[in-house]
Amino acid sequence: MPEPRLPAIAVLATGGTIAGVQSEQASAAYRAGALDVSELLAAVPGLGQLAHIRAEQVASVGSQNMSYDVWSRLARRVQALCQDPAVDGIVITHGTDTLEETAYFLSLVIRHDKPVVLVGAMRPATAPGADGPANLFYAAALAACPQARGRGALVVMNEDIHYAREVQKISCAGVNAFASPNRGRAGVMRGSQAFFYSGNTTVHSVASEFSLETLETGGWPRVEVVHAGVDLGGDVIEFLAGRCQGIVLAGVGDGNATDAAMQALQRAAASGVAVVRASRTGSGRVGRNGEVDDDAAGFIAAGELSPQKARVLLTLGLSQTRDVGKLQAYFDRY
Ligand code: SIN
Repeated sequence: MPEPRLPAIAVLATGGTIAGVQSEQASAAYRAGALDVSELLAAVPGLGQLAHIRAEQVASVGSQNMSYDVWSRLARRVQALCQDPAVDGIVITHGTDTLEETAYFLSLVIRHDKPVVLVGAMRPATAPGADGPANLFYAAALAACPQARGRGALVVMNEDIHYAREVQKISCAGVNAFASPNRGRAGVMRGSQAFFYSGNTTVHSVASEFSLETLETGGWPRVEVVHAGVDLGGDVIEFLAGRCQGIVLAGVGDGNATDAAMQALQRAAASGVAVVRASRTGSGRVGRNGEVDDDAAGFIAAGELSPQKARVLLTLGLSQTRDVGKLQAYFDRY
């Protein structure tokens, strides 16, 4: 009997704590992105029995420094690997701080249904009980799994599988730092097997109307987030309105802010800046025309997207249109 063919998985490394090295083992201080991808893979027991792995270093950054330049390179490489018939799935190692934004971005621009799995670690590679090797094992197993196809980019952390649209880093410490607060996790890993709980909640890539090429030729629209709170003034919004094509409000409660801030946002919208109302609360749905009259103000409601994901979608949306109705339709769809 011929041996069953092992799946071929491409691992693209970008840095982060998963590749982090401490100055001393008992210390909380460490440098993210210090190890290269071959060292990460060497620390994962059983990987060779799971898949044929080929690895590439795309970047070596702490993900607080993730940039549109790295996103472009990463997305182009992922797209090329998706089109390579010799590759069954793709794993991306990434810092956890902005992992959810990269996952959501990729789920919107990669046009293929091959598994793309993002993974990080909360503990550096040299820490006692480092979570990177286990997370990387599960990520490779998930990328090799036929049931992971057609679900857009997925995230694996701490044995949980998350959809790109849903996942959020909800704690700055501890290995259980990721959750999908609105719709729940997509499933779990048990050994090398994936168990999915629910259908895909993301309209991803294959059906997406966004493309990397439009961003690269037209430039990346500038979108920034304003965090609402007690006594927020309108001046910070006026400052941004002169510099940005889009502003996302990380609003109190249902995407709200002080009268001064809301009036400044209304003036920004009237001057052609796309204004999206999201919530700083971490979950829930910001709908249209509740506490705020979006129709009168010319605002867009973020739905269930967090402010940071609303920023990603608005950036992509503005690369296609400045029409508020069409932008709202993106938020209703994606
Ligand atoms: C980073 O995001 O690169 C640092 C933090 C982490 O990976 O956990």
